[in-house]
This record gives sequence, C-alpha cells and structure tokens, in this order.
Amino acid sequence: MSDIMKSLQINLPGREYEIHIQHGLLEKAGSYLRKISAGNKATIVTDSNVGPLYAGTVTESLKKEGFSVQICQVPAGEESKCQEQLFRLYDEMLDFGMTRSDLVVALGGGVVGDLTGYAAATLLRGIPFVQIPTTILSQVDSSVGGKVAIDLPKGKNLVGAFYQPKMVLIDPLCLKTLPDRNIADGMAEVIKYGAIGSAELFSFLEEIKSDEELFAKIDKIVYTCCDMKRKVVEEDELDTGGRMVLNFGHTFGHAIEKEYHYQTYTHGEAVAIGMVMACEYGENHGITEPGTGKRMEQLLQSFRLPTRVALSKESLMDAISVDKKGSGNEIHLILLTKIGEVKIIRTGKEDVLQ
Ligand SMILES: NC(=O)c1ccc[n+]([C@@H]2O[C@H](COP(=O)([O-])OP(=O)(O)OC[C@H]3O[C@@H](n4cnc5c(N)ncnc54)[C@H](O)[C@@H]3O)[C@@H](O)[C@H]2O)c1
Ligand SMILES: [Zn+2]
Repeated sequence: MSDIMKSLQINLPGREYEIHIQHGLLEKAGSYLRKISAGNKATIVTDSNVGPLYAGTVTESLKKEGFSVQICQVPAGEESKCQEQLFRLYDEMLDFGMTRSDLVVALGGGVVGDLTGYAAATLLRGIPFVQIPTTILSQVDSSVGGKVAIDLPKGKNLVGAFYQPKMVLIDPLCLKTLPDRNIADGMAEVIKYGAIGSAELFSFLEEIKSDEELFAKIDKIVYTCCDMKRKVVEEDELDTGGRMVLNFGHTFGHAIEKEYHYQTYTHGEAVAIGMVMACEYGENHGITEPGTGKRMEQLLQSFRLPTRVALSKESLMDAISVDKKGSGNEIHLILLTKIGEVKIIRTGKEDVLQ
C-alpha cells in the first residue's frame, strides 16, 4: 500500500462531494471534515466492533478541530438496520443538541452507513453527514451513491432515501482488522465491478495470489471501483436505469440469500454464486462469450468464495417476484457479453426458471 492520496469528485449538481483515499486518513479526519462543516457538534455513529478499534482516533481528530463529539454505538450486525436503533439514534442526537448545522459521521461498514445515513436524512429534515467506511464492501460500494435505508420485518432496505454524503473518507489501513470472511464478501463486489465494466480490473485481480498481494494493491482496487461507481451514480443518481448494472449477480444472489434465510451465505457469497449463474445463463443463451463462467468461477475461488449451490425453483421464483426492479411478469436480467461488458435483457420470469 502506498501513502499517496487519491481523490475523486462526485459531480451531482448541488450535491457534489469528494472521496479521499489514503493510509492513516482516520487520524486526519477532523481537518478534512472541517472543510465541509462549520458545525460545533459531531455525532459519530459506529458499531460494537468498529467503535473500540477506531472511534477514539476519529474523536481525537475531530476534537482538535473544535468539534464536541458524541459517540453512538449500535450492536454489530444487519439487525441494527432497524427502527429501534434508528429511534435510539434520533433520541441520542437530540439529547446531545444536534442541529442542522452540525455533522453526523458514519464510521463502520455498510450497516452503519445505511442506518446513519437514513437517520441523518430524516432527523430535523436532514443533517449533513459523511461516510468513513471500514469494510471493503462499504469502501467500494455502499458509502458512495447516497442510498441509505433501514430494514423492515417484511424485507431489507424497504424504508430509505437518496441522501448524498458531504464527503467520503477511506482509510485502507482499517481493512487490516477485517475478518477473512468479510474480506471475501467485499471482494465479490469488487469482482463484480471488473465483470461489468473493466476487463483490466478483472485481469488485475486474477494476478493476485495472496492476502499480502491483495493488501499491497487494495488502494488501487478501491480507487478503481469508486471511480466506476461514481460514473454510474452521476448518470443515474435515482436508480431509474443505468445504475441497474450494479445488480449483476444480484437477482440470483437475492434468491440464494433468501432460500438460506440470510444465515448460511453472506451477501457477497450469494452474489458470487449469482454471478456464476448469470454467466452460465448467458452462455446457454448465446449472449455471453463461452468460458466466461469458468473464468469467473476460478477468480471467485481464488478469493475463497463459493460458486455453486442448490436452489429450489420456488425460492428463485419467489425472489424474482419481489425484486424491486422487476415489473409485471417481466424481469431485467443483467448479463455479460464478455468480461468487462454488460448487457441487460428483458425476459419472462418463466424463461429464467427453465
Ligand atoms: N447503500 C448502498 O448502496 C449499499 C450497497 C451495498 C450494500 N449495502 C448494505 O451494506 C450492508 C453490508 O455492509 P458490510 O458488508 O460492510 O457489513 P457490516 O457493516 O455488517 O460489516 C461487517 C462486519 O465487519 C465488522 N467490521 C467493519 N469494519 C471493520 C474493521 N475495519 N475491522 C474489523 N471489523 C470490522 C462489522 O462490525 C460487522 O461485524 C448491508 O446492510 C447492505 O444492505 C448498501
Ligand atoms: Zn451487493
């Protein structure tokens, strides 16, 4: 890993923001955040794993810039993207006296980012917020683009908003403390970026032979993925068309997650299997270049991701039917023509089940 700062600018009219990627950025968070906030107070929302590791560093750095800081810690895990934790955050922030000129900081993975972003979007009709993502998935995906949400008992991400952060600070050093399974989970989304938009990234990933090599190259990987997400978000902020390509592997992936009750497979693992299924579907229909599925499978396996699973027709049907992107009896399938090139086709649900 290198110490060189890499930066990107997300250009959305009136809602522009910068993404900064650098080692040790957590220690400098305060001075960066001062550039976008004149507030007196900052609330850091984090979880029970990330808080003990990194909240102290970020707090110190914010205090140096004159912020008074409150830390709100939620239990680690998807269960915290819920109404109970949301209302607790509202309460704690109001007790702390947060106003619309203050700052909310999401410090953690996608769970913390989504929950915090939604709290910030809605409390007092919107308090500025920033993302400090600490997992691979959140650094390459969820922290950029402004989708924020909580889950309902009826399903994931059913209550949410489009609410862009004011800045995203990415410190790749944080990833050193991630558990192995979580690294693999995030790499599934990284591989997805290569598959849908960059044969170069895909080949770059194929050359990585160890965790040491991965960490040596992670800055470049995170930067490349953020830049790809930037382009997609700039073209389709509100997810009405182009942003759909990011769902490659996700239709089948969601079916797998659901069939196994969100227990056996992580999201990234399910997406990994879903990407292989999408490649094979495409190859069988003459859309995807032969051999693509095999190449995909090998790359996923090199990052310790699963590639095959038994899936019942019923749960596949079920998952496809509740897919937010589907309409009527038609669904959009996101397929590849080859590695690095995506093609969306519309087809009947029955056809997919065959
Ligand atoms: N908003 C979006 O556009 C978007 C996109 C994709 C996913 N998501 C959401 O993201 C969530 C998944 O995010 P995730 O995979 O980051 O999960 P997560 O936030 O649950 O983090 C995974 C685990 O790693 C721990 N952790 C985080 N950073 C760590 C670190 N640096 N060191 C050690 N442990 C650490 C967390 O405590 C947690 O136990 C889902 O809720 C999903 O819906 C949102
Ligand atoms: Zn995903």
